[in-house]
Amino acid sequence: MRRASRRPYVLVNMAMTADGKIATVNHAVESFSSKRDQTNLLRLRATADAVMCGAATGSALGVTLDSGGPQYRRMRLRRGLAESPLRVIVSGHLRLRQDADIFRSPGGPLLILTCNRAPERRMKALKKLATCVVRLGEDRVDLHAAMRWLHTQWNVRRMVCEGGGELNDAMIRAGLVDELHLTVCPVLFGGRDSPTIADGCGVPALSLASPWQLHRWRRIGDEFFLVFRAGTRP
Ligand SMILES: NC(=O)c1ccc[n+]([C@@H]2O[C@H](COP(=O)([O-])OP(=O)(O)OC[C@H]3O[C@@H](n4cnc5c(N)ncnc54)[C@H](OP(=O)(O)O)[C@@H]3O)[C@@H](O)[C@H]2O)c1
Repeated sequence: MRRASRRPYVLVNMAMTADGKIATVNHAVESFSSKRDQTNLLRLRATADAVMCGAATGSALGVTLDSGGPQYRRMRLRRGLAESPLRVIVSGHLRLRQDADIFRSPGGPLLILTCNRAPERRMKALKKLATCVVRLGEDRVDLHAAMRWLHTQWNVRRMVCEGGGELNDAMIRAGLVDELHLTVCPVLFGGRDSPTIADGCGVPALSLASPWQLHRWRRIGDEFFLVFRAGTRP
């Protein structure tokens, strides 16, 4: 089905606390996982043509979505990939901070996917900072169209989606995620408003929940590295 729809194979990679949170209640971006998990993320990036995130994650301090350094660039070249991954930000309103690290750091081409609701003046300003800003959808970015566009226009065959929870939820509900890579970390954040791996609107009934199959797992130290593959609804 994926081949017929000509879209990239998509992996979501997230670190989460033992209570399923991906950040503290104030949404601060702080790394709470081990060095091993950071390496895991960079290794995964080194297998992909593109890395994608939502507007909130893309605007955050320290987020650059780059290759991770010379050793990962070498890995990529050995695999026949471009030296750095394409960097993709999804944003309906284009309220991205123009002084965000992602606009100031070297890395692969930066593509911003937006929709018709984004004001033209914001689009104009961001066109000066990004490789390409494109409208794909009316009120929200049409994620199916976005995946087709990345596949046909940028030759993206494999992509890592690095959150946050809102973009993950939209991608999962659209049936566009093939693998879920979760690192469960030995810490609790609590807080009903702390983001989780899949926020957004979710589903109203168990029968509509997206099914996953545990494909691989490993315990290293006090962390679990889990890989789920998308299942099929009975
Ligand atoms: N632990 C981890 O591994 C990890 C990884 C990444 C992020 N995080 C955390 O996650 C939090 C951010 O997550 P979040 O859920 O708040 O935000 P997010 O998913 O990064 O970004 C949400 C924004 O993405 C845009 N978006 C998503 N889907 C869209 C669609 N279909 N069409 C148009 N725009 C769309 C919207 O931007 P507009 O408002 O412009 O429309 C939306 O407001 C941060 O606290 C960060 O620290 C944790």
